[in-house]
Amino acid sequence: MGINGKIAIVTGASSGIGRATAILLSKNGAKVALVARSKENLVELSSLLPESFVVWADLLKETEIKEMVKKVYKHFGRIDILVNNAGRGYHVPIMQIESKKYSELFDLNVIGPLIAMQQVVPIMEKQKKGVVVNISSGTSLMQIPGIAAYSSLKRALNAISLTAMEELKENNISVCLVYPYITKTNFHKNLINGGRWSMEENDNLPKIDTPEYVAEKILEAIDTERAETFAHDWMKR
Ligand SMILES: NC(=O)c1ccc[n+]([C@@H]2O[C@H](COP(=O)([O-])OP(=O)(O)OC[C@H]3O[C@@H](n4cnc5c(N)ncnc54)[C@H](OP(=O)(O)O)[C@@H]3O)[C@@H](O)[C@H]2O)c1
Repeated sequence: MGINGKIAIVTGASSGIGRATAILLSKNGAKVALVARSKENLVELSSLLPESFVVWADLLKETEIKEMVKKVYKHFGRIDILVNNAGRGYHVPIMQIESKKYSELFDLNVIGPLIAMQQVVPIMEKQKKGVVVNISSGTSLMQIPGIAAYSSLKRALNAISLTAMEELKENNISVCLVYPYITKTNFHKNLINGGRWSMEENDNLPKIDTPEYVAEKILEAIDTERAETFAHDWMKR
């Protein structure tokens, strides 16, 4: 789908990959709804992006997700693109996973994108076109000790996304996954278990990506409407 003139929702736009994606969408002529909880960051970003629209929402709350989509639709009168990007990690060994924290992350990383998709798809169906992009993770394709909680949530998102693609393509709606590799954002500081995983302590890792690089991949997914877009070819199974 072309981007110029389209209306796009980006969740998690206050930071990292979401912020870079909102900027790149706007540069390419989209009008962007900026969604997250951090009011100051969104207002500052909105001042840089013509005709953008700020919606504060806690995406752990179903009512706030539904209200967010209603507000965007009321403001712009259409929704062409949804980028389900908001998410957090939980990096602990299996024996230390706490069910309450795991459930909370399930709500943010899986249920939230599902509800947002369920809200926008009927609008896209009326418009006879739409693209949903779900931001997964390269870790969902791997078995890395200490990352099972997070990678299993992203695997659930992968399954929902790939199945939705099959179910909705006859209605001209594409549901696409993007798999970022390690990306320099606040993600590792924002881990639900207090950011104990540090990139600085893992300097034997291959070079990490910038959020701007991942944003380009997200726009590539919107453009091609491919089911899966990988940050790097070597990540493909
Ligand atoms: N960075 C990486 O290495 C990496 C690798 C693979 C995949 N990813 C995925 O990329 C996506 C973006 O992460 P990032 O790296 O850009 O991390 P980030 O800089 O920590 O950004 C996370 C975003 O999610 C939002 N968010 C968190 N909880 C929220 C809530 N309850 N309600 C609304 N928004 C919420 C945050 O906004 P507020 O706090 O303002 O609400 C923020 O804008 C995530 O889905 C992550 O899993 C990241």
